[in-house]
Formats: sequence, C-alpha cells, structure tokens
Amino acid sequence: MERRPFLKSFTAAALGLVTGSSAARRIEGSFGQRRRPEVSLGTKVATVAGLKVGGQVQFAAPHAGSGSGAVQGLLIHPSAGVYRAVVQACPHQGCPVSFSQAQKEFLCPCHGSAFTQTGALIHGPAQRGLSPFTVTVSKGSIYVR
Ligand code: FES
Repeated sequence: MERRPFLKSFTAAALGLVTGSSAARRIEGSFGQRRRPEVSLGTKVATVAGLKVGGQVQFAAPHAGSGSGAVQGLLIHPSAGVYRAVVQACPHQGCPVSFSQAQKEFLCPCHGSAFTQTGALIHGPAQRGLSPFTVTVSKGSIYVR
C-alpha cells in the first residue's frame, strides 16, 4: 500500500474508533446512570429566621419509631446552628416535656424526669430517654422526620 492511501484509511479508522467509543460512552452513560432515590427531608416545622436561639416550637409530624400517625414533637434551638427535636411525650407516663433553656434540659412537669438536649435520660422516674427526630436544615427551612 502506498503511503498516502494508507494514511487516509488509517485516519478514517482512527476517527471511527474515537467517535465510536465516545458514542458508546454516551450510550453507556445514559443507561448506566442510576437515579439516586429521593431522600425526603420530612415535615417542615419551622424556618431558621423564625426560630431564634433559645426558642422552641411544638409541632405534629410522623416519627419513624412511633407508628403511622403524627406525634407531638418539640423542636429547640439551644445554641447557634444547633437544632434538636424530640417526641414530646415523656416515656414515664406521657406528660409533655418542655425545654429549659437555662438548664439546657428537657424537663417533665409531672414527676420530674430530666433529659439532655438530645433526649438522653438524665434521671427518672422515666426509664429511658426521649425519642429524637432527625432534623434537617435546608434553604432556610427546618424539617423533621
Ligand atoms: S410522666 Fe414524666 S416523669 Fe412521669
């Protein structure tokens, strides 16, 4: 084969490989990509602008560990950038707890149980802590699930 025809056929073959491989990648990419499942942020219960440090908000929202219906919850903002939410019913006999910003504890008014701001038991008579919600802050809104 002469040099010039050889170079033409070599170049054409090389271009075919390049375009063929990039086309294959595009096809593979469109079929090979899997959509990530949408992760629900949960129930919007407050806005960052509306809940100042030291503030708290009661809400009703579904909770993963509490059956299918909505349960009463309490969202707190104990310090800058920190948001916590718990199921408000005390695990002792179900009285609604409140949050003491001064003590930085959830307190039960009925029999005196106390819990940390994450819901862990400090002292009873309750035998376990408060059930926490997962809190997510997104685009100025606060969600629980
Ligand atoms: S109901 Fe909360 S300590 Fe008894």
